[in-house]
Amino acid sequence: MTVGAVAAGWVHRHLLDVEGLTREELERILHLAVDMREARAARAHGSLLENEIVGLAFYEASTRTRVSFELAAKALGATVVDLGIAGSSVSKGESLVDTLRTLERTGVTMVVLRHASSGAAHLAARTTGLCIINAGDGTHAHPTQALADALTLREALGSLSGRTVAIVGDVAHSRVARSNIHALGTLGAHIRVAGPRAWVAGFEAWPGVEVARTIEDALRKANAVMTLRVQLERGARPADHLAWRLDEERMQLAAPGAPILHPGPTNEGVEITADLANGARSLIGRQVENGVPVRMAVLALLAGVA
Ligand code: CP
Repeated sequence: MTVGAVAAGWVHRHLLDVEGLTREELERILHLAVDMREARAARAHGSLLENEIVGLAFYEASTRTRVSFELAAKALGATVVDLGIAGSSVSKGESLVDTLRTLERTGVTMVVLRHASSGAAHLAARTTGLCIINAGDGTHAHPTQALADALTLREALGSLSGRTVAIVGDVAHSRVARSNIHALGTLGAHIRVAGPRAWVAGFEAWPGVEVARTIEDALRKANAVMTLRVQLERGARPADHLAWRLDEERMQLAAPGAPILHPGPTNEGVEITADLANGARSLIGRQVENGVPVRMAVLALLAGVA
């Protein structure tokens, strides 16, 4: 098997975004992720990626995404190499494209790329022969986080069709929010966003997205709520966090039992109270757990072995 071969009926060589994936394609990834979760628990499928060398190139900090991609690739039998950007020749001025072409020359076949620049993953896909998986590029996209969130929410709610998902906080600077709007919307959910004007700027023009002006309006009868941290590293300005913090009293406005999501890392006491983040409604731990099988599914599909 070589990278470039694609799984039967799977037409995408890279995963750069969830925008453009059809509902059937999203469903296929989520179904495969469930299979992968079971296979991982049974320690099966251990050699599906035995011919692949997966490079982890994280130009920005990460815990969840980097660790879960490493575990996913290893669970499927791949060789994994972590570029370790801080100790690499990037510090000597090597460009992104030169670095990735160097990895390709060493035999790396698939690269999981996180980068501060929106579009970095598209550039990598255009300029190298590598299979590129976007692990977050600037404010643009974080497709595997959205897939993990979609799986988590679907398992909690049964179906996303006709359900209202409120996304509250710094939506404008959030690649997670953008990818979730695409993924959850394609799976049938109605998306409502809310935050101070600067945090939801431009979203009035997004098809199918409702902009609420207060956190209370956003939460009213919502079937699920996702809250986001302020992306200070992308120039976001902090707002009055008490006006936008998710707390128990405000959650009473949502549909009974509505679950809470957060892509992490959380700042408890800022965008969400510690009680809610660690309480019965919280799916935050489940989002992390689902990250590994979702990434196993993505790697296997792109490698053409699932
Ligand atoms: N949600 C997310 O991308 O977390 P990390 O930055 O820890 O990977």
